Amino acid sequence: MSQLSQTRSANPFRPGSGIFPPLLSGREPETAMLEARVARTREGHPQHTALLGEWAIGKTTLLMHWRRRLEAAGDRVVLTMAYPQSRDDFLAALAGAVAAETGGGWTTKLDLEVGLDVGVAEARLRKPALQVEKELRTALQRGAHLGDHHTLVVMVDDVDLVATPGDALLQLRAIALELYATDIAIAFVVSASPGLFGSIRGAHEPLVRFFEPVTLGPLAGAEAAEAITKPLAETGVAFDDDVVKEIVELSGGRPYYLQKLAYFAFDAAERGTVSRAEFAAAFERAFASVSQEIFAARWSVMAPVERQVVSVVASETAARSSGEIEAAAVRLGIRPAATRQALHRLAARGHIDRLANGQRGRYEVRDRLFRRYLELQP
Ligand SMILES: Nc1ncnc2c1ncn2[C@@H]1O[C@H](COP(=O)(O)OP(=O)(O)OP(=O)(O)O)[C@@H](O)[C@H]1O
Ligand SMILES: [Mg+2]
Repeated sequence: MSQLSQTRSANPFRPGSGIFPPLLSGREPETAMLEARVARTREGHPQHTALLGEWAIGKTTLLMHWRRRLEAAGDRVVLTMAYPQSRDDFLAALAGAVAAETGGGWTTKLDLEVGLDVGVAEARLRKPALQVEKELRTALQRGAHLGDHHTLVVMVDDVDLVATPGDALLQLRAIALELYATDIAIAFVVSASPGLFGSIRGAHEPLVRFFEPVTLGPLAGAEAAEAITKPLAETGVAFDDDVVKEIVELSGGRPYYLQKLAYFAFDAAERGTVSRAEFAAAFERAFASVSQEIFAARWSVMAPVERQVVSVVASETAARSSGEIEAAAVRLGIRPAATRQALHRLAARGHIDRLANGQRGRYEVRDRLFRRYLELQP
């Protein structure tokens, strides 16, 4: 019994949101790209980044990883999270965060100068838009001047939570462009779901050139396997090779699923190993946990037509054209136009995958856990 609890407490896996994994696997190309952009910013050619990826693909984790690396290299980093808030509240909170993190005492000085408390707690106070912008500009300017020959990297996680993300990004861009003239090195890094630029109609063009996208996908097979086997090395628990292989396949390289499946597999270890038999039970527990945490809420907010259409898409493992899916849905009494609409909405939310194929896309549910959940719906 004591051995069991020891094993439990030593579980190295970290299923969750914004929780740093035991081993950050992969992401070398994205990291190299970001570091090259920061280096160019330092040399006077600022480059900004939009880190785009589906839910739980590892955006927050990667921002935290980048922050560590940049800080180790001597750069100044401010990492903030956006919330569902207005553009002005967002900018005010950002100004407060920049001031607090690069502050080291100067917040008080700024208070005296502009007669305002720019602390994060105050960010919710309504302030005129112009004042908010000025605060952010001042905070950035100060933050950037604190480091000698280093860059101020300002990261905003989940920027698409802001009520009007396009407005917020345009404002950041305007402030950054103004600051170019003052010769200070600032790089913005914002994260969002892949639909970010699609949702910003008018300003799409300039924004996508300013916040150059880096798209985060699932981990490749070998990277996914490493995310499991390396953290295990120090625990005295081993997973059979075919269990590792199965976790990699079931997860499709999605890091949240990897952590979840490996976490429950670890807990099911018998005498230090996990073979297929133990994993079968662990899988059911992991699946129940993901269903409860993620799928149930997703399902409950779907419109009836969306539920039917997503189930039609999931009923075949091969990708099908919208024409084929429309034909199958007609048999359930759904008009083709309604099916097409549902397909677009489901794809935009990342619940189904659209494989671009000329004009007409092909659709599938690649997520094996979600597919299983859908199969189990009455
Ligand atoms: N490169 C990686 N290697 C191993 N595990 C990872 C990696 N990236 C993320 N994870 C794990 O995956 C899970 C989800 O990561 P994270 O919260 O960073 O994703 P996200 O894209 O920010 O998700 P959200 O949609 O919740 O904002 C966490 O448990 C994290 O520890
Ligand atoms: Mg996140």
